[in-house]
Amino acid sequence: MTLDALTIRDAGEADAAAIVTIYNQGIADRIATLETEERTPEERKHWLAARGPRHPVLVAELDGTVVGWGSLNQFNPRKAYDFVADFSVYVERAWRGKGVGGGLLRALIARAKQLDYHKLVLSAFPWNAAGMALYQRYGFRTVGIYKEQGLLDGEWVDTIIMEKIL
Ligand SMILES: CC(C)(COP(=O)(O)OP(=O)(O)OC[C@H]1O[C@@H](n2cnc3c(N)ncnc32)[C@H](O)[C@@H]1OP(=O)(O)O)[C@@H](O)C(=O)NCCC(=O)NCCS
Repeated sequence: MTLDALTIRDAGEADAAAIVTIYNQGIADRIATLETEERTPEERKHWLAARGPRHPVLVAELDGTVVGWGSLNQFNPRKAYDFVADFSVYVERAWRGKGVGGGLLRALIARAKQLDYHKLVLSAFPWNAAGMALYQRYGFRTVGIYKEQGLLDGEWVDTIIMEKIL
C-alpha cells in the first residue's frame, strides 16, 4: 500500500480501539512518553468525548485501517495560554518511517492555524530519533532540555521542549 492513499480525518468514537492500540505501543516502546499506564478502548472513548472543538483528535487512515493518530492538547488552562497548544503524534509500529507522522503533523499544523493558535509546543525524549527528525523538518526549534525530568523504569530521563510559532 502506498501513502498516496493516506486520509487524515477527525477521529470518532469508533476509532477508540485503534487509537488505544497505537498509543499503548508508544507507551510500551518507552520512546515516546513518560506515560507508563496502558489504556483501554473504553477509557479512550471517554477521552475522545471529553475533548472540545479546540482540542481535536485526528486519525491517519490507509484503505480503511487507522495507522496513526495525533491531537492538539490543552497546554495550560489559564486564559493567557489559550493560543498555545501542545500536541501528540503516534504511528502504528509497522507504519513508522513511511511518512505517516509527517502527514499527521502537517494536518495538525494546518488545523492549529485554522483554530487560530499562535504556537505549538511539545515535550519529547531527545533520543527519539524519528521524533527529532520529524519536528526539525516541520520547523520546530529547541527551547531547552529538562535534565532528569522523569523517573522511568528506575532511570532518570531528560526531556526536550520544542516550539513552533505558527
Ligand atoms: C515519531 C513518529 C510520530 C514519526 O512518524 P513517522 O511516520 O515514523 O515519521 P516519517 O516517516 O513521517 O518521517 C519523519 C522524518 O523522520 C525521519 N525518520 C523517520 N524514522 C526515523 C528514524 N527511525 N530515525 C531517524 N529519522 C527517522 C524521516 O526521514 C523524516 O525526516 P525527513 O523528512 O527529513 O526525511 C513515529 O515514528 C512514532 O509514532 N513513533 C513512536 C511514538 C512517538 O515517538 N511519538 C512521538 C512522541 S514525542
